[in-house]
Parts: sequence; C-alpha cells; structure tokens
Amino acid sequence: MAKLRTGRQKYYDFFSHFYDLFINLHSSNDRDETRTFLVDSALLENKRRAKVLDICCGTGSVALSFATHFSDCLVIGYDFSLGMLKKAKEKDSFGNVAFIKGDAADLSFADGCFDIVCCSHALYELKGPARKQALLEMKRVVKPAGRVLIMEHEVPRKRFIKLLFYLRMLMMGPKDAREFIKKGGAAFQDIFEDVALSHTRSGKSKLFICRKSFDD
Ligand SMILES: C[S@@+](CC[C@H](N)C(=O)[O-])C[C@H]1O[C@@H](n2cnc3c(N)ncnc32)[C@H](O)[C@@H]1O
Repeated sequence: MAKLRTGRQKYYDFFSHFYDLFINLHSSNDRDETRTFLVDSALLENKRRAKVLDICCGTGSVALSFATHFSDCLVIGYDFSLGMLKKAKEKDSFGNVAFIKGDAADLSFADGCFDIVCCSHALYELKGPARKQALLEMKRVVKPAGRVLIMEHEVPRKRFIKLLFYLRMLMMGPKDAREFIKKGGAAFQDIFEDVALSHTRSGKSKLFICRKSFDD
C-alpha cells in the first residue's frame, strides 16, 4: 500500500509540470465557472475568519479561489505531492493560504476545526478503502453543521472526450474509479445524513454538498 502510494506521488510530481496546461486545454471555458460554483456553494459571505481546508488541492486552484473571494478567511491546501504543492505555492500571492503535505486518508488536524472542507476532482482517484477513510476524515475535521463540498466529473457526453475520460479512469484503476463516478452520491450518503447534489452550468461537473449534523 505504501509502495503504491509512493508510486502515485511520483506520478503526480511529474504531472505537476503539465497539470495547469492540461486543465487549460481541457476546460479553459468552464474552469473559472467550476471554481466559482464551488466557492459560492460554501456560503461564507457573512462568515468572518472562516477556516477552509482543500483536500487534494493539486496546483491550488480552488484554495487560491477561496483566498481571492474571502480575504479574511484562512485557507489550507493539502496534498501528498510535493510537485503539486510547489506549483501551488508559486501562484500564491495572498498571505492567507498555507499549503501542507499529507495524505487525504490521514488528516493532520484536530476534530471539528474547519467551517468548510472541500475536495475537487480528486476523490475518484483514491482507491476504495482510502476513499472511504478520506471521507471519514473530512467529516471528522469539519465543524458540527459545517459543510463538506465534493466536486466530481460528470461522464462527458462528447464521444472523443468520453474516450479520453475512460482512458484516464483506466490509468487510475479501472473498475473502482468508474463505479464511483457512476454511482453518484451513494458513497457520500453512507457517511453523511444530509447530501444535496447540484450541477455546474456547463454540465461537466457536479457538486455534492454534505452536511455534518450537530450530533456527529
Ligand atoms: C486531479 S488532481 C485535482 C487537483 C485539484 N483539486 C483541482 O481541482 O485541480 C488530484 C490531486 O489529488 C492528489 N492526491 C491523490 N491522492 C491523494 C492522497 N491520497 N492524499 C493527498 N493527495 C492526493 C494528487 O497529488 C493531485 O494533486
């Protein structure tokens, strides 16, 4: 397991050099819309000094978007790839963001310390048990009544893009990742009582809004 993880970290370290370019080519038109959609869904307008954790933050697009929209909030981007984190730090000119290395399935934070925990386009890449563990960890570190926002891909409609999408799924571990994407909210409903689903305008991504109850 540790060996597999190190291999994947190396893969992401390498990918970090092209990641932003790849995203720009793949979804330049909807990139900002998708991030803004996630940030808006956090409903932080009237909340002072909110604490936000972005799991699997990659090159920091979502974490930096939170930092831009809410200058008094504290944002932490968390990822196990030093390569990705280095790229994220290079883009940071804000002062209210920190990028920390760590595994999504083992968060190095106390219980209930974040108003928002989010994870964008990454959970499908975690293998079964690690994914469930990561979800349990997100629930643990979010405050009671806080929100866990999980953005995932929709299966693309255009044939060629769909082919590329499934090729990528094959690289990530075929059956598991594909089933997760297709199953929709089931994985979240096992862990959170309250799960709402919404879709971005472009129809390319969906957002699961999971709420931790006061009693959890
Ligand atoms: C497809 S990228 C998504 C990046 C970013 N959230 C975005 O929306 O652009 C997936 C990210 O998840 C990270 N990742 C994958 N497995 C992880 C794990 N077990 N713990 C922490 N980070 C992980 C990778 O290093 C990579 O940066």
